[in-house]
Amino acid sequence: VRERTEQAAQYIAAYIVKRINTFAPTAERPFVLGLPTGSSPLPIYQALIAAYSRGEISFQHVVTFNMDEYVGLPHEHPESYHSFMYNNFFRHIDIDVKNVNLLNGNAASLTDECLAYESKIKALGGIELFLGGVGSDGHIAFNEPGSSLASRTRIKSLAHETIIANARFFNGDVDAVPRMALTVGVQTIMDAREVVIIATGHGKALAIQQAVERGVSHLCTLSALQLHPSSMVVVDEDATMEL
Ligand code: GLP
Repeated sequence: VRERTEQAAQYIAAYIVKRINTFAPTAERPFVLGLPTGSSPLPIYQALIAAYSRGEISFQHVVTFNMDEYVGLPHEHPESYHSFMYNNFFRHIDIDVKNVNLLNGNAASLTDECLAYESKIKALGGIELFLGGVGSDGHIAFNEPGSSLASRTRIKSLAHETIIANARFFNGDVDAVPRMALTVGVQTIMDAREVVIIATGHGKALAIQQAVERGVSHLCTLSALQLHPSSMVVVDEDATMEL
């Protein structure tokens, strides 16, 4: 199963390399890529770094927008999504830091921060490909169950299930997990020209079943992708167990 999980990540990494190379980005026409954090995308980042070191891809003209960030966690905190992205990806590739966009969960005005993020995405002509993971409750980015499917970048309180799930990154200390986050909305993701989701492990099986086999529902925000003209969910065998 481990090998198959790795294959899911390899598949997505190869797909992203192909998409960027076919697009042939330039400074004037960059490739705009949406990115997630979490443990499931980690092997994708490793495979992309490997492709970069083999000279198969350059990120020089790639602009990134991350999906989400905790509110109130200092950037330098090891579990901030800023730290995650630099440590696991950006530091190892030739991306220009000016092209990296991450929500600032410590901004003086969080509302302005969210509005500015949406404006910046729009100014760049929208997101070409949004890569994402999924929470065990079916959330995409931090669009917890009950989020409007028309939502845009905003402040969101985390669901209890998410706080418990993410405690593993804070030495198991549930109280250390921030209670709020900034997140792109479901509609922000739906606006991307293409969406690619990775879901691995049995912990995602129910979410995948709900998102794929049931109707579109704000109680499982991943299900919104049923309405997307170009979306793909890549799973390992464990994540298909409820299908
Ligand atoms: C967090 C992130 C999501 C991510 C989810 C699953 O909630 N905000 O974007 O998809 O975790 O993470 P993992 O891949 O570690 O299971």
